[in-house]
Amino acid sequence: MHALIIGGAGYIGSHVVREFLDAGHAVAVYDNLSLGRTENLFPEATFVEADILDYDTLLAAMRTGIDAVVHLAAFKAAGESMEQPQKYALNNLNGTVNILNAALDAGVRNIIFSSSAAVYGEPTYIPIDEHHPCNPENFYGFTKLEIEYLLKWYDRLKGLRFAALRYFNAAGYDVDGRITGLENNPANLLPIVMEVAVGKRDKLQIFGDNYRTDDGTCVRDYVHVSDLAAAHVLACDYIHDNEVSLTVNLGSETGVSVKRVVEEARALTGKPIPVDVVGRRPGDPGKLAASAQKAKRNLGWKPRYSDVATLISSTWNVYRKNFPA
Ligand code: UFG
Repeated sequence: MHALIIGGAGYIGSHVVREFLDAGHAVAVYDNLSLGRTENLFPEATFVEADILDYDTLLAAMRTGIDAVVHLAAFKAAGESMEQPQKYALNNLNGTVNILNAALDAGVRNIIFSSSAAVYGEPTYIPIDEHHPCNPENFYGFTKLEIEYLLKWYDRLKGLRFAALRYFNAAGYDVDGRITGLENNPANLLPIVMEVAVGKRDKLQIFGDNYRTDDGTCVRDYVHVSDLAAAHVLACDYIHDNEVSLTVNLGSETGVSVKRVVEEARALTGKPIPVDVVGRRPGDPGKLAASAQKAKRNLGWKPRYSDVATLISSTWNVYRKNFPA
């Protein structure tokens, strides 16, 4: 299969590229390098530096014998999306309309879309399965849900098959150390913990310790980025071979608290990692955990690296390389 991986120089995208290459597929990466990094590109994949709002370049990239498009090009900071909805509407929504229209014009029939557990909003039950109501709490989650609706209509009206992959909390780095580009200004817990460990930040702010969880801090379902990446390859084969579309959760089905992440990170890095408990962050649910049974059943997916120790040690290895003592 020949895959066009849009957003393939980004954190998750580069792991997806690696996984497609390892599975023996031909890959073209399309990225505007606004968040993606050239260090994340692999020589085996061709590269087009362009924006998803540039329709002509997108169409030309798809008219090169592409069988499947993997779309990971999105802004993803939930907090920022509430302050700058225009930015998220333009890139995430308009950009996706361009991608889908170009796919139709180019005759590409398969699309794998990075969706998010943010489509669910505050859970009404746990573990969250795919039947859970979708009520996004932030604009970012709204853009992901709108795109899922769009995909369903394009499937129904035009036969564009899709896999919408609802990621829980992506974390970790390639365990073989082949991906080393760090995200600029990370907003997620584990990279921030690592920035404290390497001395780039003084301390971690823990957003609230009075949640109704065992230790009072928020519980999340962290899933290793290479496990996520493997699911993209499986999903691509699945929708192609079965000629059906699919919406699935991808999570480890294990809840881990913020405090536990910090304790494990201290133990694995040998660094003190000071913390300050501050007020709750608006829109943070106390607890999120996935049911990933559907992905396991339909795709034969099985997380291999999503235990806390591997998540943290694989991230630490990359931070250590980027910030030598
Ligand atoms: N946290 C802190 N301090 C920080 C950063 C995070 O205490 O400096 C806490 C948060 O309050 C939360 C947990 O760490 O409880 C994880 O926070 P992240 O910002 O890393 O991730 P979120 O759970 O907010 O959201 C992530 C992705 C979303 C996705 C969601 C799905 O960023 O895109 O997981 O579960 F939708």
